[in-house]
Amino acid sequence: MVVRVPAGRMVGRDVELGRLLTLLADAEARRSVAALVSGDAGVGKSRLVSEVTQLAEGRGFTVLSGQCAELGDSVPYLPLADALRGAAQSTGVRDALASRPALSRLLPEGGDGRLAEEDRSGLARQQMFGLVLGLLTELAAVAPVLLVLEDLHWADASTRDLVTFLSRMLHRERVALIGTYRTDDLHRRHPLRPVVAELLRLPSVIAVNLVPLDPSALAEHLTAVLAEQYTTAPGRIDATVLNDIVARAEGNAYYAEELLAACLAGDPAGRNALPAGLAALLLSRIELLSDAAQQVLRAAAVAGRKADDELVRAASGLPADEYEAAVREAVTHQLLVPDGTEGYVFRHALLREAVYGDLLPGERTRLHGTMSSLLSEEQWLAMPGTAAELAQHCLASHDIPGAFAASVRAGEEAERLGAPAEAHRHYDQALALWERVAEPEKTAGMARGKLGLWSAITAADSGDYERAVHLLRRLRHLLAAQAERGPRDEAEPDVLLASRIGERLASYLMLLDDGKADEEAMEVARATVEATPAEPPTWQHARAVSTYANTLLIDDDTMAREQAERGHAAAQAAAAPWVQADALVTLGFISNREGRNDEAIKLLTEAHKQARQAMVLGVELRAAYHLARAHLERGDLALGGTVAYEGTKRANQTGLGMAPFGWDVQHLHFQCHFADGKWDHAQEIADGFPVRVTSVPEASLSSMALFIDVARGNPTVAERRAWIEPFWAAHGFDGFIARGLLAEHALWQGDAEQALAGAQIAISLADQAPWGYSPAAIRPAAIAMSVRADRAIQARAAGDDEATAAELAAAGELLRIAREGAAFPKRPKFILGPEGRGWLARAEAEYARASGRNDPQAWQAVLDEFGPAYAYETARTQWRLAEALAEAGRRDEADEQWRQAARTTDRLGARPLRRALDDLARRARIGAGPVTDQRGGAVLAALTSREREVLRLIAAGRSNREIASVLYIAPKTASVHVSNILGKLGAASRTEAAAIAHREGLSARPSGR
Ligand SMILES: Nc1ncnc2c1ncn2[C@@H]1O[C@H](COP(=O)(O)OP(=O)(O)OP(=O)(O)O)[C@@H](O)[C@H]1O
Ligand SMILES: [Mg+2]
Repeated sequence: MVVRVPAGRMVGRDVELGRLLTLLADAEARRSVAALVSGDAGVGKSRLVSEVTQLAEGRGFTVLSGQCAELGDSVPYLPLADALRGAAQSTGVRDALASRPALSRLLPEGGDGRLAEEDRSGLARQQMFGLVLGLLTELAAVAPVLLVLEDLHWADASTRDLVTFLSRMLHRERVALIGTYRTDDLHRRHPLRPVVAELLRLPSVIAVNLVPLDPSALAEHLTAVLAEQYTTAPGRIDATVLNDIVARAEGNAYYAEELLAACLAGDPAGRNALPAGLAALLLSRIELLSDAAQQVLRAAAVAGRKADDELVRAASGLPADEYEAAVREAVTHQLLVPDGTEGYVFRHALLREAVYGDLLPGERTRLHGTMSSLLSEEQWLAMPGTAAELAQHCLASHDIPGAFAASVRAGEEAERLGAPAEAHRHYDQALALWERVAEPEKTAGMARGKLGLWSAITAADSGDYERAVHLLRRLRHLLAAQAERGPRDEAEPDVLLASRIGERLASYLMLLDDGKADEEAMEVARATVEATPAEPPTWQHARAVSTYANTLLIDDDTMAREQAERGHAAAQAAAAPWVQADALVTLGFISNREGRNDEAIKLLTEAHKQARQAMVLGVELRAAYHLARAHLERGDLALGGTVAYEGTKRANQTGLGMAPFGWDVQHLHFQCHFADGKWDHAQEIADGFPVRVTSVPEASLSSMALFIDVARGNPTVAERRAWIEPFWAAHGFDGFIARGLLAEHALWQGDAEQALAGAQIAISLADQAPWGYSPAAIRPAAIAMSVRADRAIQARAAGDDEATAAELAAAGELLRIAREGAAFPKRPKFILGPEGRGWLARAEAEYARASGRNDPQAWQAVLDEFGPAYAYETARTQWRLAEALAEAGRRDEADEQWRQAARTTDRLGARPLRRALDDLARRARIGAGPVTDQRGGAVLAALTSREREVLRLIAAGRSNREIASVLYIAPKTASVHVSNILGKLGAASRTEAAAIAHREGLSARPSGR
């Protein structure tokens, strides 16, 4: 539906237009952006946006433009459907839609079909979002895209979520998004309010607020309208009248236009008699029409968004010829505007609102009743969105059975369209009407319990687990009470339905992330298994057992395994491959946890295959994730990478990139390439991980990207950190990953204090009291220990025994933690993979370094544990190994390790490590360090490069012993260097030499320790 705005010249709004044109330019330059255009009704939002749309089309943009409708907030994705319908003539859009059947369902010819019970994977919404993202990306590859969504104050919940999702996820695609909304409609508890607030937090989203037009612009506009549209009567308006209209309209262009029209239609002398306020003015205009024309307008106002010709004619109750004449009259008076070939729209939404608001109560009920009997015909009902509208017409005409039936249908339709929030709303509506309908079971085609179950499931799918749990708890009590009363005469209590309710309740309880809920989940799952008959075999029984197994995973592997095996067998007997594959994943997961890695890989491979064959996406991704992780953990990077890549491809194709296990396989794919040293590829993947995150999965992905951003010293680190930090309190895992990596970043930046603090928190998050540390503690412990080692060495060189002892004690505690983590007291059978072993060996080597025995053999052990596949870790270890060898006086070997490390580091682009290597090269005089700093001009020209290093350390206030330690030379040698320097510089003291160094610009750059 396109609301026409007069094509006349736009007045004023230069600044606002300028900002929106910048938006287009940004999109063309691959910076995806969004603008929220707001302002009072009729102030000129649509006019401004239509100007931008035209200019965008002229610049080669593909424009998709859709509108929300006042009665449409229960119709899922209405503005998106509108936009797609409008653009579907273009071949590009048509092809992009054809390859995404789930999106095509939004279009009228999208087809129907009820959902099979097992199909409801709970992923439909994420899938829908992913598909829209994919569609825009695909279109944007050909030409920049402008997506306009008008009147978001009327948007459905799914559309609101979609707008948020797109604004966050689009970053390098050539896409601009413009949304408009009315400020005067946005009352304090309006659901769009928090969405606007959240969007405006994003740096890529701008707010364009339209204030009233200034009087001169308004006068200019009216003069233009007069010249263009009232060519026969230009002489009838004089300047005073015009000024009067401008003053009364208060900067609202639409109001001004209507005042002008009213003035011209009536007696100009009687203009003072014009009613006050826009609505009254509009009605006074309508009163001038014939009865038939008014009747048409009333019918059109009730028809709402679809003022379809056929519907309006039928609802107006006029004979054909009278109807035609009446419509023509409304069009001539610029009240209705033809919309395509199908029907009409009001020239302005405010006009429809005024007419609708003026209907008499009985009249309104009757017209809604007529509408509902018309829309009940299958020809209309087959069109997406009609059922939701029908439900509203029925409610407004007090047709309870009609509203009930339409709500059930609208719920199913919303579910099919991937809009669980709307589905839940419709199911809930139907439940509320249940008792007021004569044969509810027959009309709904299902029992009340089942309707309740769907209501809960869709609430959960829209992310509201609390509500789902609440509904299911109530349903369970209801069923229990019923069972106590004994079987009703007509029907046996449905044990399978009860089983589904219990099983879902247990599953959602586990997602609540709270210990008490976990216990309840276990209890509910156990009771559900007991109450579900095992014979004859059913998928419901198998599912109940498998879910029970999942609840047990929290603390009892043995029982969990038993139940998962039972669930697996039950699924096989019931021929339910999707349940079977899911149970296999659980079994594989347990095997992996218990250290039976070959068996785990075998089970997970089989589960993955079965899930693919059974075409159950959710299980397939779960299997892919666990399988890829098991490979990665054993150091089989190539195998892990392949499985994760396949999973990523599947997730993206099906729009599940950000769904559970969809994003997990993405980060595993990244990790495999981060580990194996294909860093350009790894960087490409990581760059796709969102930076401006506002949800837990996004924050997790962004944290993962830090692996490479930190190792390469990329500037994005700071921005990522700022966005993920708010999630640390709520979600342990990302906080753990990010804090550990940011500690490494701090270390590279020379901020030991911050590095230590971050690593300490990461370590504490790996504490699984009362058992003790998990292997996750090893890496941050090794990082913290390298700070301790640096400090212990410094303290020792400075002769500070107390500080040395303190640092060593702290390092000792860290080593204990690392060892405990490796032993994994909570799961003693777990087998540590090469990465864990590598980090443990590094912790041991760091401890030796802290104790003053920097041992080449210890570093060699680190290399051996990681194995050659881990490119970056190998180079990082060779750096320390070269240092240890240099300290031991084994210069040739040191040189060889250094060169190998430098080669890898340069290939990877690991800048911070390269800086550390250069620093080592200068101090230890090995490798091919960078050309020594020649700054300092003539005064320092007499110094050798070694003497410059020493002078730099003098300037940093280091003693001879400390200089000796940093440069791996004897204190005696250091003192010889110092006297030579003083001599060459003609300096009387160290202080004077330091002053010269500062003056000559020789920086006291922090060294590797
Ligand atoms: N800057 C302008 N120059 C010329 N005409 C304008 C301007 N702004 C608004 N108009 C005219 O005023 C009328 C109302 O504007 P518009 O439909 O854009 O308002 P709106 O803010 O979108 O209102 P709503 O909230 O009801 O959607 C239209 O007829 C439009 O052509
Ligand atoms: Mg508008």
